[in-house]
Amino acid sequence: MLKLTPPMGWNSWNTFGENISEALIFETADRMVQSGLPACGYEYLVIDDCWSLRERGADGRLVPDPAKFPHGMKAVADYVHSRGLKFGMYSCAGNMTCAGYPGSFEHEFIDAATFAEWGVDFLKYDYCYHSPLIPGEYLYRRMGLALENCGRDILFSACSWGSDETHEWVKTTSSSMWRSTGDIFDTWESIKNLAKQQERLFPYQGLGCFNDMDMLVVGMYGKGNVGLAGCSDIQYRTHFSLWAFLASPLMIGCDIRDMTPAALSTLTNRDIIAIDQDPACRQPFRLHGIWNHEDLLLYARHLSGGDIAIGLFNLCDHKNTARFNLDELGLPCSTGKTLVMTDIWTGKPAHVRNASMAWDLEPFDCAVFRAKVSDL
Ligand code: GLA
Repeated sequence: MLKLTPPMGWNSWNTFGENISEALIFETADRMVQSGLPACGYEYLVIDDCWSLRERGADGRLVPDPAKFPHGMKAVADYVHSRGLKFGMYSCAGNMTCAGYPGSFEHEFIDAATFAEWGVDFLKYDYCYHSPLIPGEYLYRRMGLALENCGRDILFSACSWGSDETHEWVKTTSSSMWRSTGDIFDTWESIKNLAKQQERLFPYQGLGCFNDMDMLVVGMYGKGNVGLAGCSDIQYRTHFSLWAFLASPLMIGCDIRDMTPAALSTLTNRDIIAIDQDPACRQPFRLHGIWNHEDLLLYARHLSGGDIAIGLFNLCDHKNTARFNLDELGLPCSTGKTLVMTDIWTGKPAHVRNASMAWDLEPFDCAVFRAKVSDL
């Protein structure tokens, strides 16, 4: 399946881990709709690891755990679809999933057929317990081919954490997104680490196969499976802005039955989401800036229609001033052009003087602009 913009939705892992059930999924589907998330683009509801029994059935098929999903997976898919959402599930390229449930290794075609029968629209495919003798690209191509031939449009989400040079082969596997790093945790350090690992992968970002920086921790505040220390609302806003700026899939990971107004407002900022979903899918690039700190990330990305997204991300625990010259963006004074721009989060306009801009940032804060080219 070809997806033209980064997939958006919710995934059970970050908050619930193995504590998943039919009731949780039904309630989550209801609350997704009530909170207006689908209208902002969130469409997939994905059940991660731990949904099956520990052994396959006598017919070789995966069996949903009846204690968690008493009416089977087709009933769950039907409910999710009845709420206007798409339904995602999880498996693994190895003998077992990361949590020790049966993986799809050497069952790729039968599992793809089972997922199609149940009405699955999205498959996240992990990399634990895989054979060290078979290259990852072969394993992902197998499942990619199985999905392409299962008779249903199922989005393939590769999750090999960027290992074994995933970026070099992932576009040969029919996947629409690929995990470019290890797992996220709900701490500022984790967000910062994942963000800083992306830059060398910018050239692999593009239309139809998106670099996946992992599920969002916005709104977790330290609760749940990957909870740990938690973050502040400012840190969550910067996290969300970075993921969107770099066109990562946006998969919510908090308990959306119990979201704070601040988390909901961050996750539903349509102007930020529009940058994530920009149809041109251009590669982001780093601005060198002037007197720049290494943890002050200055990024830009050309958008469809001639606008430029500019993101200033202060990953430091102290204030910083972001400074750069417009000639880095292709607009020296000699062009007779400048940029008109307003920060999406605060509504504050930026002032460009002598083809140069400066912007003060609080600790952990960011500013994101949709800049328009205009006459000087
Ligand atoms: C791996 C993945 C996570 C999650 C867990 C489930 O760690 O990277 O996103 O799916 O497995 O066990």
